[in-house]
Amino acid sequence: MFNLLVVGGSLLGVYVILCLTVLKMPRCKSSAKLHGKTVIVTGSNTGIGKATAMDLAKRGARVILACRDPQRAEAAVNLIKKESGNNQVLYMHLDLASLQSVRSFVENFLKTESRLDILINNAGLATRGKTKDGFGIIFGVNHLGHFLLTVLLLERLKECAPSRVVTVSSDAHKFGKIDFDCINTHKKLGLGDSALALLGLYSDSKLCNVLFTHELAKRLEGTNVTCFSLHPGAIKTEIGRDANLWWKLVLFPITMLFFLDVDSGAQTSLYCALQEGIEHLSGRYFSKCATVDLSAKARDDATARKLWEVSERLCGLA
Ligand SMILES: NC(=O)c1ccc[n+]([C@@H]2O[C@H](COP(=O)([O-])OP(=O)(O)OC[C@H]3O[C@@H](n4cnc5c(N)ncnc54)[C@H](OP(=O)(O)O)[C@@H]3O)[C@@H](O)[C@H]2O)c1
Repeated sequence: MFNLLVVGGSLLGVYVILCLTVLKMPRCKSSAKLHGKTVIVTGSNTGIGKATAMDLAKRGARVILACRDPQRAEAAVNLIKKESGNNQVLYMHLDLASLQSVRSFVENFLKTESRLDILINNAGLATRGKTKDGFGIIFGVNHLGHFLLTVLLLERLKECAPSRVVTVSSDAHKFGKIDFDCINTHKKLGLGDSALALLGLYSDSKLCNVLFTHELAKRLEGTNVTCFSLHPGAIKTEIGRDANLWWKLVLFPITMLFFLDVDSGAQTSLYCALQEGIEHLSGRYFSKCATVDLSAKARDDATARKLWEVSERLCGLA
């Protein structure tokens, strides 16, 4: 009995120390106010995106919730308006799994809005299926849809500079690879079934986010538009909603013990969007509100350029 108490006490002690150190998320300390500024947050009806949109609305921004589900989006708009006291929060339809929807969103946005100060590419998923254009949905939504969205909004961002593009990646990018043969031959484009295969495809797409930001920073040099990619932390959200029962059972205790809330998950996105004086770090990757050095494959100039060119072609831009 005594031994059991010692083991239990030690485990609890270790857990508390972990919570106060490794698992602790620093907060974005910027006190920037955003009255008169316009922000787009993709996938902001729930999770990290919703918490990000809430904070930006509290700072006075005009916040566009770019989401695919009208009901879930309107519910989030109402909640954010109520809690922030900011009426400049609105939903615009964007389904990143359709290149046509991305184009329609941009057309509508450019027609009805005069500014764009911050674009936050936040939406993401790790599920099976294809986009409307036939791409694997993980590659299609996490990378390709955001690629087209950003490229089509670049002129507006330049007109409103200084402005920023923030892309929510993940530390999972470390396990990713870019399979140009697969992308070029249009055979699979990231289709997969098993949980492990989906995790692999998710990691690949998150590597695309990092390489996209690396190349974007180069293309934006001298424009006063800066861009950053980031890992938000391990956060309790709906991202695993499509996992099967076994995965859910395995992940539940881990999530409950070690994952943080969505407010913590928004901090690094907010830091990249708002922090003064980080402009010279454009193209870099952030975690816990600080820069992190990337491995060689995640900052490889040739791969990043090739991914950009292939993405342009797949989106019908080249
Ligand atoms: N949670 C974590 O621990 C973690 C860790 C590392 C990185 N991330 C990244 O953080 C970002 C936010 O994820 P989350 O954890 O907050 O997940 P989440 O709660 O599942 O939220 C994802 C958001 O993306 C939206 N979305 C999915 N497919 C879309 C599409 N085709 N068009 C438009 N929006 C779409 C979802 O809309 P619906 O509600 O309509 O599905 C939802 O609003 C993702 O990029 C994810 O990869 C998360």
